[in-house]
Amino acid sequence: MIAWLSELWTGGTAVIEPASLRDAPGLAELHGASFHRGWGEAEFETMLSERNTLVHRLRMGRKTIGFAVSRMAADEAEILSIAVAASHRGRGLSRDLLLTHLGHLAGRGVSKVFLEVEENNQPARRLYERAGFTVSGRRERYYQQPGGEQLNALLMRRDLS
Ligand SMILES: CC(C)(COP(=O)(O)OP(=O)(O)OC[C@H]1O[C@@H](n2cnc3c(N)ncnc32)[C@H](O)[C@@H]1OP(=O)(O)O)[C@@H](O)C(=O)NCCC(=O)NCCS
Repeated sequence: MIAWLSELWTGGTAVIEPASLRDAPGLAELHGASFHRGWGEAEFETMLSERNTLVHRLRMGRKTIGFAVSRMAADEAEILSIAVAASHRGRGLSRDLLLTHLGHLAGRGVSKVFLEVEENNQPARRLYERAGFTVSGRRERYYQQPGGEQLNALLMRRDLS
């Protein structure tokens, strides 16, 4: 497909940029659609106001189609959440989002990044492994599903240089 037609079809080129307070409704909507326990608009407003929290959004046209959130403490950071809208998954967009986010963390002086991922979440595990994260621990029955099922968590880590 020629480029302009492809962009029209997909909604345009994806842009990664720092999120601002006015993005809170769109971020909450996307988070709610991506996770069992969604974060509300007020939670995003709080995080977007905190100096130690970094939030990037993935935007296509005027629509937020992804985000990455992490919290920093001294030279460490934890990735709290990352998601891409279901309609835009499978195109490698999360990789650009994560790598850009990591680049900004490095720019803020972060040298160690941690995260937790559900053991069976293959797209997320693959994303993190391809971005240089390695498994550093495992927590049995860490996540409680709405139906009562308990799932294991893997702890992952990547050093930034
Ligand atoms: C995890 C998530 C952000 C990935 O976004 P995405 O843009 O669709 O990611 P990609 O298309 O780049 O796929 C990531 C990798 O997973 C692989 N993958 C996708 N679906 C898969 C599946 N069902 N089984 C195994 N691998 C899969 C892709 O092939 C790709 O690997 P590759 O780079 O080696 O080809 C997205 O699936 C999402 O938002 N999930 C819901 C929220 C979530 O679980 N977030 C992570 C919390 S820790």
